[in-house]
Amino acid sequence: MNTTWSKCILGGLPFKWHFYRKCSYKAVRRPNIERLGRKLTAPQVETKQKDIQSPNDLTKQLKAKIIATGPITVAEYMREVLTNPHSGYYMQRDVFGREGDFITSPEISQIFGELVAIWVLSEWRKLGSPTPFQIIELGPGRGTLARDILKVLAQFKLSGQFSMHMVEISPYLSKAQSQRLCFTTEKIADENSPHYQTGKTAGGTQVYWHKRLEDVPRAFSIVLAHEFLDALPVHKLQRDGKLWKEVLIDVNPNKTKDDDLDFRYIISQAHTPISHLYQPIQNERRDFLEYSLESDRIVSMMAERIETDGGIGLIVDYGHFGEKSDTFRAYKNHRLHDPLRAPGTADLTADVDFRQVMRIAEKHGKIICFGPVEQGSFLNKMGGEARLEQLVTNSLPENQETIKSGYKMLTDPAQMGACFKFFSIFPAVVKEHLEKFPVSGFF
Ligand SMILES: C[S@@+](CC[C@H](N)C(=O)[O-])C[C@H]1O[C@@H](n2cnc3c(N)ncnc32)[C@H](O)[C@@H]1O
Repeated sequence: MNTTWSKCILGGLPFKWHFYRKCSYKAVRRPNIERLGRKLTAPQVETKQKDIQSPNDLTKQLKAKIIATGPITVAEYMREVLTNPHSGYYMQRDVFGREGDFITSPEISQIFGELVAIWVLSEWRKLGSPTPFQIIELGPGRGTLARDILKVLAQFKLSGQFSMHMVEISPYLSKAQSQRLCFTTEKIADENSPHYQTGKTAGGTQVYWHKRLEDVPRAFSIVLAHEFLDALPVHKLQRDGKLWKEVLIDVNPNKTKDDDLDFRYIISQAHTPISHLYQPIQNERRDFLEYSLESDRIVSMMAERIETDGGIGLIVDYGHFGEKSDTFRAYKNHRLHDPLRAPGTADLTADVDFRQVMRIAEKHGKIICFGPVEQGSFLNKMGGEARLEQLVTNSLPENQETIKSGYKMLTDPAQMGACFKFFSIFPAVVKEHLEKFPVSGFF
């Protein structure tokens, strides 16, 4: 039996599951790896070999930088390793699924994306069904969640009422997404254009691709971030008396054998810009913590858009509420991996600190947040079990067990049900309205 791992840590270890998304029960067409008998990849995307640097190049590049300018922050290391334009982990290949390094909820069961779509629809209606509106997805991966959402909104005859905005840094994944979602696609050569690619779905929804959230047009928007914040660079800070010092990455001077690590962690001697800037909450009890300036920046931008233009934010990720200290880790071939070994060949990630997300979103008093609530609770409250029953009833007998196991994996607290959390953001002006009509899935 094939096995694979999520990136959620339980008791210090990632949990293991069987690879479920292999059946053809979906109404939409998905790759059937068992039948195809080949690598599970996104739709075929050509990458010119000469454009790809080997991970060795990234190691050399990082070493040269450290030797020239001194040790770098963990955030800088993470940014280079994940999104370096030539050899970054996400930039030139498909990293999801059985042949990749990890799998995410939308890839496990269609029920996940369908329930997120129903949530979007129900909360949009609660806010008066403003049209036209935008759906923005941050870091859409293979585009599976977007595809399930487009499918559900098309069933409600809404395809022409909204535009879809994908914020994706990876050229490989943006091409894979467009091939999955769009009937027609066009690359935009003009460097001044706020989007670098556009396309139209078969249902008639216009889709745009942007490098950054700031490039997405200002309008009422539903902003989705599924397993996006965990991929943003984190700084690691360590308390030293009254000072916060920063963990840095240096070249390993003791490397003698090939399998020794090229890099090592060290502690900054004095303040770094981030350890200086970082403002802990009152009575912070942790002596070690992870802090993402980039996550603060994105959440702040999301909140500012939602309070000014109207809209809703939904963040789904593994995370904690300010109690965890040391979650920076790497995954390779569905196994935990040393983040300092062979940079560029493994995913780097850290748990989302939802307390910090809430603190930033509510900073100006114009946003109201709900959650985090556990994924299992959210999906069950959104009617997941009824949808499961319906799918099982309408599927072939040989697929029924797989469909049930997929839903169990998403909702079981011992699997993904508890460590993955849902968190939502609304304009504070609708607070009283939401007291009368509580946010679906959260109560
Ligand atoms: C962990 S994957 C999650 C993919 C997808 N949301 C899912 O759950 O299957 C992270 C995604 O964010 C994208 N990404 C990472 N850093 C980014 C950045 N700074 N700006 C835009 N996209 C980024 C990656 O290319 C990838 O699509």
